[in-house]
Amino acid sequence: MAGSTVVMKLVCLLVVAMVTAAPLAEAALTCGQVSTGIRPCIDYLKKGGAIPDACCNGIRSLNSAAKTTVDRKSVCNCLKSAAGSIKGINLSLAAALPGKCGVSVPYKISPSTDCNNVQ
Ligand SMILES: *[C@@H]1O[C@H](CO)[C@@H](O)[C@H](O)[C@H]1NC(C)=O
Repeated sequence: MAGSTVVMKLVCLLVVAMVTAAPLAEAALTCGQVSTGIRPCIDYLKKGGAIPDACCNGIRSLNSAAKTTVDRKSVCNCLKSAAGSIKGINLSLAAALPGKCGVSVPYKISPSTDCNNVQ
């Protein structure tokens, strides 16, 4: 059991590292990082069914990587534009996704979200 905890921690670190690794470290998270994080979710958002673990891991990593208001606003704006631009995604699935992953995201993932109010 201790061994598998270590493996889980390593996996989490890896996912966080992949999501947060930027060629040029900037203050704010980029939409590139956000789209990498949510990429495993796209299929689910189009078709429903089971949520892949990689999708929830991506959402979780993005949420924990967004430590400042600036980060959270930029993640919000990226999710908002992704929700508006990815063809064929089911917006009610998108809005419900963080909850289904057990991640609390303090705004709705939707093309009409006002990200200026995100703290
Ligand atoms: C979106 O997903 C919900 C929940 O699974 C479903 O009830 C609804 O019909 C879907 N909407 C579309 C447009 O596919």
